[in-house]
Amino acid sequence: MATVKTKTVWFCKSCGNESPKWMGRCPACGEWNTMVEETVATGKKASVADRVPGAGQKPMPLSEIDSSVENRISLNNDEVDRILGGGLVEGSLVLIGGEPGIGKSTLSLQIPLNCPNLKTLYVTGEESARQVKLRASRIGGDDANCLIYSETLMENIIAEAKSIKPDLMVVDSVQTMFSQNVESSPGSVTQIKETAAMLLRFAKETGVPVILIGHITKEGSIAGPKILEHIVDVVLQFEGDNRGAYRLLRSIKNRFGSTSELAVFEMTGKGLREVSNPSEMLIPMHEEGLSGVAVSAMLDGTRPFLIEVQSLVSTAAYGTPQRSATGFDVRRLNMLLAVLEKRAGFKLSIKDVFLNMAGGLKVSDPACDLAVIAAVLSSNFDFAVPSDVCFAGEIGLSGEIRPVAQTDRRIIEAARLGFKRIFVSSFTALDGLEEQGVKGIEVVKVADVPALCRALFKAD
Ligand code: TYD
Ligand code: MG
Repeated sequence: MATVKTKTVWFCKSCGNESPKWMGRCPACGEWNTMVEETVATGKKASVADRVPGAGQKPMPLSEIDSSVENRISLNNDEVDRILGGGLVEGSLVLIGGEPGIGKSTLSLQIPLNCPNLKTLYVTGEESARQVKLRASRIGGDDANCLIYSETLMENIIAEAKSIKPDLMVVDSVQTMFSQNVESSPGSVTQIKETAAMLLRFAKETGVPVILIGHITKEGSIAGPKILEHIVDVVLQFEGDNRGAYRLLRSIKNRFGSTSELAVFEMTGKGLREVSNPSEMLIPMHEEGLSGVAVSAMLDGTRPFLIEVQSLVSTAAYGTPQRSATGFDVRRLNMLLAVLEKRAGFKLSIKDVFLNMAGGLKVSDPACDLAVIAAVLSSNFDFAVPSDVCFAGEIGLSGEIRPVAQTDRRIIEAARLGFKRIFVSSFTALDGLEEQGVKGIEVVKVADVPALCRALFKAD
């Protein structure tokens, strides 16, 4: 008879790679200092011949498999429904990740309170039932159909869930849950994997959708959602500054819909409020004629919106000029500054350059290049970009302005918000804007950086 033995292995906290000995650098993901020690049980391996009778399904021909559309549950929250691809799919496991204090618990409590017709089992391992009640009354909900269960042992949770048969289950959080099958303490890599695997099995067997919460810290010091990404169906990640009011929920993985969708929320005194038109919120009000500000018509996921790019260029106080960017890649900023210097002759190598994307957004759309350059030049010359002008274009290394994806949608959004001029690449193919009802916006096509400067800063 096989006996259960334990052995010590090392796991990488960031990717879950297993190794028999400690290493300074994980060979799988290349991260430094991420290996943690854990004990795992071994020896109880079933041999191939030990087939479990009645377990699992029989292999089936592809042609006989039912492919009807999956059942989706609407959560009565347009932003969350949209980011999930049109509602929560039955039997799916959704991970909501984010730093502590960003609003994961608030959102996952708001979801059942918004859907009084769904019987929800809300498992809390972090807060007491009373704390959840206080939060619920703060949000303004009191739902008899939402059962609060304060427990951390996975075996009990699964048994309770199977007897209650809820329509939706929320587990807050994966780091506090533990299973008796695994020896290590809650929050360790093996416990997190086991918890997720048990919830996945429960979701698939019963068809109950499960929302699982996971923390990530800035330093990644807790074994976190990264290692869960392969297991779960959907990963939603909260971003933003948890001191600011706006929170962004991004879909990074979705087996039932498109990724790189973005939803915007505002944290108010009564929970999270959906911001259905992010453009209006991301462009803050300020006085006319401020230099160093340019608006970019960007696309996040499938959604166009306008964001303000702010820049400050000043003479370097010390020998080496500083370059700093918030929400934008510093290397890309350096590249753009080098293009300005080399291709357009602006002497920026002796200047400090600071760049900021308003609203705490992290931007990766190359179409923001043009607005970044316009903001930098505007601050450098102390010459304001008119407030009814916006930009969408990528800058190439030879200073040319390149067309970007879905320019027509960006123009439509800009026109809708009342912008009068948009600068795009002269290589953009645009037809049918009139048919789409775009009026009142002038599309200015520019070929390179000098042409942009002439068009933008000529006396007007
Ligand atoms: P929380 O959901 O507890 O964060 P997480 O579960 O991600 O750790 O949200 C925490 C913050 O939100 C907390 O600082 C208080 C604030 N908050 C509000 O501003 N308004 C509210 O209505 C609620 C419920 C919380
Ligand atoms: Mg919480």
